[in-house]
Amino acid sequence: MTSRAGERGKPVAGLPSRPPVPYRLKRIFREPTRRQPRFPPNRSLWVTKSALAETPLNAKAEASVPAASDRRHALAAMFRVVRGETERRAAPLTPEDQVVQSMPDASPAKWHRAHTTWFFEQFVLVPHLEDYRVFHPDYAYLFNSYYVSAGPRHARAARGLLTRPGAAEVTAYRRHVDAAVERLLATADEALLERLAPLMEVGFNHEQQHQELMLTDILHAFGQNPIPPAYDPAWAPPRTTASAGFATLAEGIHTVGHAGAGFHYDNETPAHRALVGPVRIARALVTNAEWLDFMADGGYATPTLWLMDGFARASDEGWEAPGHWRKVDGEWRIMTLGGLQPVDPAAPVCHVSYYEADAFARWRGAHLPTEMEWEVAARAGLIDDAFGIVWQWTRSAYAPYPGYRAAPGALGEYNGKFMVNQYVLRGASLATPEGHSRTTYRNFFYPHHRWQFSGLRLASYDD
Ligand SMILES: [Fe+2]
Repeated sequence: MTSRAGERGKPVAGLPSRPPVPYRLKRIFREPTRRQPRFPPNRSLWVTKSALAETPLNAKAEASVPAASDRRHALAAMFRVVRGETERRAAPLTPEDQVVQSMPDASPAKWHRAHTTWFFEQFVLVPHLEDYRVFHPDYAYLFNSYYVSAGPRHARAARGLLTRPGAAEVTAYRRHVDAAVERLLATADEALLERLAPLMEVGFNHEQQHQELMLTDILHAFGQNPIPPAYDPAWAPPRTTASAGFATLAEGIHTVGHAGAGFHYDNETPAHRALVGPVRIARALVTNAEWLDFMADGGYATPTLWLMDGFARASDEGWEAPGHWRKVDGEWRIMTLGGLQPVDPAAPVCHVSYYEADAFARWRGAHLPTEMEWEVAARAGLIDDAFGIVWQWTRSAYAPYPGYRAAPGALGEYNGKFMVNQYVLRGASLATPEGHSRTTYRNFFYPHHRWQFSGLRLASYDD
């Protein structure tokens, strides 16, 4: 393994060498973990509704195991869909747009495109494609995000300082890795395809997460521009036709978390039983009109509505409206993917932090739902606009489910090590790729974060 890794470390882009990419392959991909995939075995494709989506990737039952060619084609087809969507989202951006890092939490678009490529190179190609040569030996250092097990990495907050490699070189990197993955899939035998399937599926989902971040991050960058650009001039705010009022969840014991077929992250497991309700949960998302009322009533200036940390953050940063709102000639406007637009009173409020959502709920004499209440209500079809507009803050801390244990190895770093000091958001936003949402999905951010497409719905424990 060591000698092959060294050989793979030869650069093809011609810059001086440094230690090769596969720093600890034996540890990351040791044999026992091949027999026991780190994430629950995949069951079916989940992104598109194509005919390929009906083909299980690594079903265990003998009768349902697809021919190797079916699995091969399904993986290759999904790989092209996911990789193509990233480039489609990047297409409106100039090379200059792709360099900017507007704050430490955001990353340059170019970095997202390269990091998702590194993920396939590091976890799929290097351990499994015998004659693979890494595109560049320094890219593992530049484009590893937080995988300590995968080796040292460039400082997150300094990603925007990387003018080189340029966007065109990142495109070449993507093509190099795309071609190698296609070659790997075309030549792998059935046993290797079975090992590759769960890794590929994590790679697909990982890249989809970065597709959303690419939009939230470029929106934040564009929002710093006094002459705010439009990512998509034809973009319009999502409208809602949600029902008014609250749905009632009677007290009951429900199974929550992911069980059964379909891709899911480890943080959605183990499925377990939880006591939920009685509670009433709003069918609709909170709108801009309601938020304007909160602002007009002094919501941002009333400390008794706020958690202490939240009020301190709001004061320190001068919050008087949601993120991306600007006052122009006395009127509030919102920086959107379509540029600076008037506030649409009917649209759900967006770019609010947990602190703001919590204060708003208190102002209304209500609460944020717990993530269990949200999941049970969503599964029962009791709430509208659960997916596709804004992620919805819950009052649940991001913590492991009972019995959760992060998998060993580098991919075990994906979720588990972040289970402290953050809050869970449920649903999906307008930027979430199609097929990347489900009732058990647990998104998580720090309570002051508000550059995501994040909103809220209310819950009440009053009759
Ligand atoms: Fe990542």
